[in-house]
Amino acid sequence: MKRRGFLKTTCLAAAALAAPGLLRAATDRTLRIGTITPASHFWTQTMERVGVSLAERSGGAFETQIFPSGQLGNEAAMIQQLQTGGLDMGFLTVAEFSNRLDDMAALFTPYLVPDVARASQLLTGPTATAMLDQFTSLGMKGLGFGLGGMRHLISRDPVTSSADLAGRKYRITPFAPLRDFYELMDVAPTPIPLPGLFDALANGQVDGADIDLELAWNLNLYNQAPHLTVTNQMMFPVVAVVSGSYWAGLDDSEKEMLSSTVSGEIDWLFARYMEFEPTWLDNLRGSGMTVTEASPDFFGETLNRWHEIWDARAPSIAALRAEA
Ligand code: BEZ
Repeated sequence: MKRRGFLKTTCLAAAALAAPGLLRAATDRTLRIGTITPASHFWTQTMERVGVSLAERSGGAFETQIFPSGQLGNEAAMIQQLQTGGLDMGFLTVAEFSNRLDDMAALFTPYLVPDVARASQLLTGPTATAMLDQFTSLGMKGLGFGLGGMRHLISRDPVTSSADLAGRKYRITPFAPLRDFYELMDVAPTPIPLPGLFDALANGQVDGADIDLELAWNLNLYNQAPHLTVTNQMMFPVVAVVSGSYWAGLDDSEKEMLSSTVSGEIDWLFARYMEFEPTWLDNLRGSGMTVTEASPDFFGETLNRWHEIWDARAPSIAALRAEA
């Protein structure tokens, strides 16, 4: 296994003898980072930037290897690897973690924030920051929440209200709060991995998808599902987590360097979504898509009924709503 490069030169070896943190770090592994998204996606680019920035700030001491596109398996497999020490860091959907930590569902509360700017404030605010402590129960250190844009609907057929969705099949990312959201509308929520979504829309396996603008544009979904309902119904957060064993092997200054580097690059990620969401929307309009703006009324009673299920299961909903 590749090791960090602290002792590669005599000069650094001498420095290590003078600094216990450096000496201990010489036995640590390279920081191996896994993510489900492809190289072109902003989440993967964020992790690439973490690697570059860590190498610069540490004078080459931190080496990183990025494994994009689910090369190490799906997110459930990566979470397991983080727990057994096979993976050091993940940039993973909060959706997958909400299957293990009910309270993470709070970050999918419908209409918590209206847009990516407010989402980025909430995801770096005191409530979300305190929620990061919950990852210790899974044997991980939560470093920070990021974002994958706001969620909307794309459909093969026109849609004017959520009543039109009843009886249809919509692609969802499989996690309980979102499944409930669609089932409350009598929609059949259908889990389709992103690489299969274009074909699933093309062959009618699903009638539409719960999606963000980045993917609707970059996966060319507009031809297969030409009706976009701009709902901004939820955030789609991502979280940077480090395995407990990797974290325990760092000294305080290394922990600070890793945390602050990740936070800085997550700020870069937020800025990308603020910059690009209007462009993706323009591009989708330009593709000939029918674009309809929808208010929360679009979902009618579904919103209250969702809260009846999730307010008790995800106690952070109250604090997030108050802060938002
Ligand atoms: C999704 O399942 O929709 C998704 C997964 C990873 C990044 C962004 C979106």
